[in-house]
Amino acid sequence: MQYLLSNEEFELFRRLIHDSSGINLTLTKKELVKARLAKRLTKMGIDSFKDYYKYVTKTDKTGKELIHLIDSISTNKTDFFREKKHFDLLNTSLLPSLISSKTKAGIKKLRIWCAASSSGEEPYTLAMTVFNHLKPNNGWDVKILATDISTKILKKAIIGIYRKELLKDIPTGTISAHFSSVLYENTNCYKAKDHLRNIITFRRFNLMTPAFPFRNPFDFIFCRNVMIYFDPETQSKLASKFYDCLPKDGHLFIGHSETLSRSNTSFKYVQPAVYRK
Ligand SMILES: C[S@@+](CC[C@H](N)C(=O)[O-])C[C@H]1O[C@@H](n2cnc3c(N)ncnc32)[C@H](O)[C@@H]1O
Repeated sequence: MQYLLSNEEFELFRRLIHDSSGINLTLTKKELVKARLAKRLTKMGIDSFKDYYKYVTKTDKTGKELIHLIDSISTNKTDFFREKKHFDLLNTSLLPSLISSKTKAGIKKLRIWCAASSSGEEPYTLAMTVFNHLKPNNGWDVKILATDISTKILKKAIIGIYRKELLKDIPTGTISAHFSSVLYENTNCYKAKDHLRNIITFRRFNLMTPAFPFRNPFDFIFCRNVMIYFDPETQSKLASKFYDCLPKDGHLFIGHSETLSRSNTSFKYVQPAVYRK
């Protein structure tokens, strides 16, 4: 079925999406929004964008359709070892020095937050990187919190099964250490092993949440390739909330195509897309 989306209706959805997820869409994205939301209209048996908007904002008191709407709008592109220099920095410098200083202080605890984890490749990459230094059951308490706004994509992350070609650039020794071969939906896949899964907790979390609920700081926060969808004011508020979630010398990693405004942040620049508190 062909649905018509007027500019006024697009503006209503644009605002709703911005206010509920921070995602900042311009009129250039109208056709994309129309195509993605049309699938929801068909699924719901709703005839027009006007009626769909009314359903999401008034009729549906559960808020579930708003979650589906955001799921269908969010872009989930990700990869294992994406922007590899970040994992090299962790592997060769940041993790060894942090583990050494924590060991001296008698604090065998490591906390990482992957704040837009998409389908899981990024938190599983973080877990593999940590295991280069801290083997399972060696007395360290390691936890990676992996969050995303999209429930649909989080389900994939929790399943943790990936088509083999998605891991084609990872050395075979690394794959066999951390993944098992499985047949999934008639396709040859790799499944993340339990030692990776056991240190990752997946949760739905909206980065637009006014006050972050975390009681303890994270040593590293990865929030990569999501701020690019937010406007500058939202980006800078988010960066300052991340600042509050890090201890002194904690690190924030953002995407290589993203920057923190130098005049507007207390973070110290370390290298492209890496900042220290
Ligand atoms: C392009 S992916 C990036 C994934 C990964 N961080 C990477 O760099 O490969 C962006 C992710 O941000 C999530 N996202 C968008 N808005 C969000 C919000 N307000 N709160 C939490 N996650 C959000 C999307 O659902 C999507 O999975």
